[in-house]
Amino acid sequence: MKLLVTGGAGFIGSNFILYWLKKYPQDKIINLDKLTYAGNLENLKSIEKNPNYEFVQGDICNPQLVNQLTEKTDIIVHFAAESHVDRSILDPAPFIKTNIEGTYVLLESALKNKIKRFHHVSTDEVFGALELNSEEKFNDATPYNPHSPYSASKASSDHLVRAYFDTYELPMTISNCSNNFGPLQFPEKLIPLAITNLIEGKKVPVYGDGLYVRDWLYVEDHCRAIDLILQKGKVGKTYLVGGLTEDIANLDIIKKILKIMGKDEMQIEYVKDRPGHDRRYAVDWSRINKELGWKPEHNFDEYLRITVDWYKNNQEWWKRIKTGEYQKYYEKQYSK
Ligand code: NAD
Ligand code: DAU
Repeated sequence: MKLLVTGGAGFIGSNFILYWLKKYPQDKIINLDKLTYAGNLENLKSIEKNPNYEFVQGDICNPQLVNQLTEKTDIIVHFAAESHVDRSILDPAPFIKTNIEGTYVLLESALKNKIKRFHHVSTDEVFGALELNSEEKFNDATPYNPHSPYSASKASSDHLVRAYFDTYELPMTISNCSNNFGPLQFPEKLIPLAITNLIEGKKVPVYGDGLYVRDWLYVEDHCRAIDLILQKGKVGKTYLVGGLTEDIANLDIIKKILKIMGKDEMQIEYVKDRPGHDRRYAVDWSRINKELGWKPEHNFDEYLRITVDWYKNNQEWWKRIKTGEYQKYYEKQYSK
């Protein structure tokens, strides 16, 4: 099988490529990644000489390049995106370009080259927000109601992917997944930001009252869900993928990290809230469980500890990232 993976130098994409080549060593993967600030080839160092792996630096918005690569492909797994909500608030333009136009370019090429499967990796953020302390969860019937430029651009890409199935019968599947955590996550996202700030002796910025809830999933569980969808998923279908069965507020996650790292709550710094901040996400993953037999297998507390250890043991990886462009972004985002 020949796979074209887009955005494979990012957090989930690189975890996915490592997962896939370990499980299916005979398959061939082309990784198309622009290497934006979020792309990092160090993530894939262990496979860079693998003859079944090829890296191509390029933009998914480039139709000639995409077409050239799609000609040689059976399956596209589409991760490439601008993925950080706060950056989308500071500057929506790259989100519109990559997440919408880039997806359109890939869809056109997939259609032209009669791709066997186009899998689109999307997010639970397209559904908007749930009430705090409610039992409600996002499910297949939840209407789209995105609030940030990021989630609106991902919602738009989901609609395009579905339109290519309904109109042109492009064999596609979509997964809408909740918040991932684990090794190789860029330290602008809550969990790696908190861990790396604490290692550096800095405080952890908590937005608003900190009582926002996300549905956390260990990244390997997400990779396994995509694998199952590619193997057994029904063409034209959307699968919701999530982790926790009980709500945990951001503040409680920070307190867990502080405890693991032997720090006290003086390290918490309340900062201005994110505009349009979604209060609560929770995903009902019963359908993928029933139809494909998937469920999250990595316990949150145990894998949070493993994630803390990974950032402690891989300081060179993130210290190189937390300079230059990152520093400028951090100052802009967290200035009072
Ligand atoms: P990331 O920001 O870590 O990585 C994105 C990758 O895409 C980077 O390697 C970047 O260089 C690449 N890229 C960006 N623009 C590109 C372009 N125009 N052409 C080619 N490559 C480009 O993101 P992530 O957290 O790994 O998320 C991957 C996908 O999963 C995204 O589509 C995101 O919306 C989705 N998702 C993420 C989460 C999460 O918790 N991180 C949850 C659900 C869904
Ligand atoms: O739900 C899936 C989504 O999860 C993905 O689609 C996105 O790509 C991914 O970035 C993530 O979005 P969030 O906005 O939920 O993740 P983030 O890590 O930015 O924030 C998690 C929560 O923590 C959120 O309520 C905002 C809060 N937060 C975040 C940062 C960076 C803080 O309180 N302080 C911070 O400094």
